[in-house]
Amino acid sequence: MIQKYVYGKPFSTEAVVTEVAAGEGTPAYGRIETEQGFCFTYIMEETDIVYGLGEANRGLNKRGYCYISDCTDDPNHTEDKRSLYGAHNFIVVSGKETFGLFFDYPSAMTFDIGYTRMDTLQVSCAESDLNLFVIDGGSPYDIVKQFRKIIGRSYIPPKFAFGFGQSRWGYKTKEDFRKVADGYRENNIPLDMVYMDIDYMQDFKDFTLNEKNFPDFPEFVQEMKDKNLRLIPIIDAGVKIEDGYDVYEEGVKNRYFCQREDGSDFVAAVWPGDTHFPDVLNDEARAWFGDKYRILTDQGIEGFWNDMNEPAIFYSPEGIEELKGLLKHFLENDDHNSGVNAGTLAVAPTSDTNDSAEQDIDSGASIWPLMGKIGGLANSKEDYRRFYHIVNGEKIRHDKVHNLFGYYMTRAAGEAFERIDPEKRFLMFSRSSYIGMHRYGGIWMGDNKSWWSHILLNLKMLPSLNMCGFLYTGADLGGFGADTTRDLLLRWLALGVFTPLMRDHAAAGTRDQECYQFEDLDDFRHVVGVRYRLIPYLYSEYMKAALNDDLYFKPLAFVYPEDSMAVQVEDQMMLGNEIMIAPVYTQNARGRYVYLPEEMKFVKFLPDGSISEEVLGKGHHYVEIALNEVPMFIRSGKCVPVAEAAEYVDALDTEHLTMLGYAGSEYTLYEDDGVGKEYEKEENYRTLKY
Ligand code: GLC
Repeated sequence: MIQKYVYGKPFSTEAVVTEVAAGEGTPAYGRIETEQGFCFTYIMEETDIVYGLGEANRGLNKRGYCYISDCTDDPNHTEDKRSLYGAHNFIVVSGKETFGLFFDYPSAMTFDIGYTRMDTLQVSCAESDLNLFVIDGGSPYDIVKQFRKIIGRSYIPPKFAFGFGQSRWGYKTKEDFRKVADGYRENNIPLDMVYMDIDYMQDFKDFTLNEKNFPDFPEFVQEMKDKNLRLIPIIDAGVKIEDGYDVYEEGVKNRYFCQREDGSDFVAAVWPGDTHFPDVLNDEARAWFGDKYRILTDQGIEGFWNDMNEPAIFYSPEGIEELKGLLKHFLENDDHNSGVNAGTLAVAPTSDTNDSAEQDIDSGASIWPLMGKIGGLANSKEDYRRFYHIVNGEKIRHDKVHNLFGYYMTRAAGEAFERIDPEKRFLMFSRSSYIGMHRYGGIWMGDNKSWWSHILLNLKMLPSLNMCGFLYTGADLGGFGADTTRDLLLRWLALGVFTPLMRDHAAAGTRDQECYQFEDLDDFRHVVGVRYRLIPYLYSEYMKAALNDDLYFKPLAFVYPEDSMAVQVEDQMMLGNEIMIAPVYTQNARGRYVYLPEEMKFVKFLPDGSISEEVLGKGHHYVEIALNEVPMFIRSGKCVPVAEAAEYVDALDTEHLTMLGYAGSEYTLYEDDGVGKEYEKEENYRTLKY
């Protein structure tokens, strides 16, 4: 049962799409205060678990830290970070009392989950204007499914999007893209997509192509298609300010950009230099911006990734003016010659080290505000208060609806795709998101690093994201920032084999990270090949999850709630209804410990193409997993179909599948044309017997 409680005058986010009955009195759980902002307080039992929050830092059980829903472009996902790119305000408390809460509030919201006091859950925000949905159910899993029903069906990508993709910030010319295509094709490593980062554009202008490098883009798109590869361009939030650039000029003329209080168009510097942000919360402006995707779909493009849509701001002219003031003050102040050495400067405050910027330091005092200003120039709270959206004729300050920008930018694209070709699925995923966006696209997990700890962070986030509706998701495999290593990439790919979005992406300036850059390519061919062998199963489970508002990734606790050990496991996940995954995430490990809540078949895809199977009993085991092996576990009494590897999705032979797992069992395979939207047809399902 779900009940809706309305506080103040909530902004309509359209996260929830079905009618929900109004709750009577006050919610049955916790205490709510609305005198100074909004605050929900609940005292937790020691063993209560808190699930949810989607794209958030730390564990699957969110207890023991403080998270802030405040979409942020921050490429350093260290343990101390409270905000990442998404705002997913759904939690489930599981324990003595079990219930779910969705705080539909589009501005910054704090989830103090046993941080201030270990037993206290406190959810708060500055203004008491929100919808609170309270969900009762028999189990956390049941609650999640009810929640998923009210927020609408998750985005369904085309089937090619289940193939492997290669990306890198820095591919510029046709030659660069051909090198990637050939690097994979000549080495027979499967690949379906090559991603185009910002350098394909002319001066980083959205919906343009570099004139010198791509004078005949449709031919190039076709050239790649002839190799069975799709090009997937990036679109950024900021529209470059440049006379003669039609998107800019139309936006200015029609007042489609976010405005300052005085009505002038707000300026923010991002990759292209000064830009304006399309007011995607405004219906008309959103339709206009969305229709721009047609410029590229008309040239044969079938998928996109939306970026910088928190929206990220490197600086604003106002911020620079303030900085100049501080610099002037600093230069005119003699104090700066005393007492500040390079060592102190190195720890100078940045925007996210909260307190230090305010510290009262005696020597060289004027450097601190200056350093704070420099560090805080990007993505500053002040800038988010400097511009407005026009929603249904009403002027709304951006910070009040900050967490909706990425959602509505992606909605712009999703709604436009419906107009461009209502029968066709397009690939779309975004960096920033809010619940509701899961209907229009997936997300990737942003700028992670080539760190072993990020494999685990990636793994833990998957079920939490699924709970919030985001099924099409994955991380930059191999790591975005910092230099990867061959073993890190292989281990990460062995997790990526199972994530719906499987993409290798790296930042400019980092070590080459395409699979063919490393020695012993056979290992990469094999690991990526396993993904293709599993696509019939993975796609089928994805579709069932999407069509039934269910989870693709589940915590073990959702399947084995009575098993007190399974309930605590955070580094193994259930995938679909048949398998459990347990990737290796430590360097130099030759295997790992796993906990089996029931007897399972431990399956390894071996580099020679064969598959090893071993029945393991309930309990703890150490399993050996070499760097070039892909492990998974099949649940007792179940089976999964496996195809022969193929070099791209369309080449998969799904008629001749072999079954893996427990003989005598059956599997219901979902399969459709992978392009259209006739999901409900009966012939999409067939029973496979083992
Ligand atoms: C952002 C994105 C990253 C991209 C880069 C350049 O950092 O998160 O994926 O490569 O911008 O466009």
